[in-house]
Amino acid sequence: MSRDLGGILARHRNDPTRLVQILRDVMEADGWISPPAITALADGLGLPRARVEGVAGFYAFFATEPRGRYRVLFSDNITDEMAGSVELRQRLLDAFHVRLGEVSRDGLVSIDVTSCTGLCDQGPALLVNGRAIPRLTHARIGAIAAMIRGGAPLTEWPDNLFEIHEHVERQDVLVTTPFAPGEALGAALARGPEATLGEVERSLLRGRGGAGFPTGQKWRLCREAPGERYVVCNADEGEPGTFKDRFLLARHADLVLEGMTVAAFAVGAQKGLLYLRAEYPFLLPGLEAALARRRREGLLGERIRGAEGFDFDIEIHVGAGAYVCGEESALLSSLEGERGIPRNRPPYPVTHGYLQRPTAVNNVETLAKAALVARHGADWLRSRGTGRSTGTKLLSVSGDVARPGIYEYPFGVAVKQVLEDAGARRVQAVQVGGPSGTLLAHNELERRIAFEDVPCAGAFMVFDESRDMIDVLHNFARFFAHESCGFCTPCRVGTTLERQMLSRITSGKGTRKDVKDLGHVARLMKAASHCGLGTTAGNAVLDAFAKFKPSFDRRLASLDVLPVFDLDESLAEAREVTGRDDVGAHFPEEP
Ligand SMILES: Cc1cc2nc3c(=O)[nH]c(=O)nc-3n(C[C@H](O)[C@H](O)[C@H](O)COP(=O)(O)O)c2cc1C
Ligand code: SF4
Repeated sequence: MSRDLGGILARHRNDPTRLVQILRDVMEADGWISPPAITALADGLGLPRARVEGVAGFYAFFATEPRGRYRVLFSDNITDEMAGSVELRQRLLDAFHVRLGEVSRDGLVSIDVTSCTGLCDQGPALLVNGRAIPRLTHARIGAIAAMIRGGAPLTEWPDNLFEIHEHVERQDVLVTTPFAPGEALGAALARGPEATLGEVERSLLRGRGGAGFPTGQKWRLCREAPGERYVVCNADEGEPGTFKDRFLLARHADLVLEGMTVAAFAVGAQKGLLYLRAEYPFLLPGLEAALARRRREGLLGERIRGAEGFDFDIEIHVGAGAYVCGEESALLSSLEGERGIPRNRPPYPVTHGYLQRPTAVNNVETLAKAALVARHGADWLRSRGTGRSTGTKLLSVSGDVARPGIYEYPFGVAVKQVLEDAGARRVQAVQVGGPSGTLLAHNELERRIAFEDVPCAGAFMVFDESRDMIDVLHNFARFFAHESCGFCTPCRVGTTLERQMLSRITSGKGTRKDVKDLGHVARLMKAASHCGLGTTAGNAVLDAFAKFKPSFDRRLASLDVLPVFDLDESLAEAREVTGRDDVGAHFPEEP
């Protein structure tokens, strides 16, 4: 157990809402969170031990059993797989004679997989003790193995191994409009909070995090709710295939932080929280430096830009490897030091958010756009895009393209235009918006990226004709099964069944019955899950049924063979336990 546990607790003011941050520090110091450490933390924070244990067990980046001194996690995203990650991973496993998920006998190294690391434009990638290494090759894997074997501390590994590149392949107004820190705040202060809010409403800015909720309306609901208010920047960016927020935080941090400050001015908040995904620790020094600079320049802190009563500051919280924490209510729980379980909604965060107080939660890109709306006015945004989708959208383009990277387009751009610009050839499919989004077939490339046609939070993954779409679905199913928080049965059981059935189909043991059951499960999850993770976990399967049916048939062992697994039968035990055996407790037969 860390000798510095007292120091860690003191650094976090023994504040239970900082539990996730405290556990991160314990992981950093000890490499795992031991039972005595859990007891000591519970005592120090005045929490039940079970609560600390529950949080430690929830997040993928917390280990409650000893791991290797070097903890290696390969990104399991489909684009990493397409770029050869499985072979590279095997090479490292062989080098240390370990199996996936195991710790080497000497305790030196453990090797496992993690969900997408947000480096799909430069995969394959891995994390070692939380630090990202992109652009893996056999040479890089050889060098990593040698450094691990030699016991070199990470600080002595060559810097270039950890270099993250930002490839900006197409720019539009978000990226090209010049911006000096303080400009947007100056314009907002001159207008006043009500008129600033009015300008954001008039711009028709919609959230860029996925749901597309009107930002002005969200801010107004928050402003009108009684009590101390908060602004939260959602930088969790966990959807596989998305990395545009990484780019904004790396290159345009001031714009994002200013967007948060404008939001605070408009809603009347004094505190902001930026929730940064655990896979992006390389962004922390730059963000902390930007915060410090802004404090020095009077753009954060008390009396911002000399305005009496305008006090606001921002704190960064780092996640711990849970995709569901991108869901805004789960994110708020995580910020409060809890497990990231999505809450019942309503009430919504605008009235009952952080610490049950009114909170405006916005995506990184939304806040960057809001800052520019405050500076240049509503018409600046409305001059681009479509009537219902104003402005531009950042796309994270990856997969089978010649030029993966960041592309900024006005909303309404045709999918085929993006493909042409990115150098895609022989396109079979495009997954827009990540595994939870929309799977487009080659005959749908005229469709447009816009809320009224194909919405896209950011991910744009391209698959050429050489790819088997069933392998893609299998990868997505692994992702959802791994990331389901387990709170509700349709998603907990459904994502596991989905993964199992796709596993059978990809290994050539699937039957028509599996395919039929897969459809049942996907529809059931969509209809009955508690949060957006479960309701979207079957999207790609349902799209593939409609558009890639021959791919399924090709992979079935025999179209007529009897099923080895009966989905309805597999739920018999659950029916017995719950005492239910009515029609609703059975999977319906397909008409
Ligand atoms: C499973 C799940 C994961 C999500 N992940 C993110 C995320 O990483 N970043 C994000 O901004 N929104 C994410 N969202 C959407 C948020 O719940 C929320 O709608 C968004 O942060 C609101 O900001 P916006 O209005 O600016 O889009 C996710 C939603 C779900 C259901
Ligand atoms: S849908 Fe899935 S992720 Fe969401 S609450 Fe239910 S189990 Fe958790």
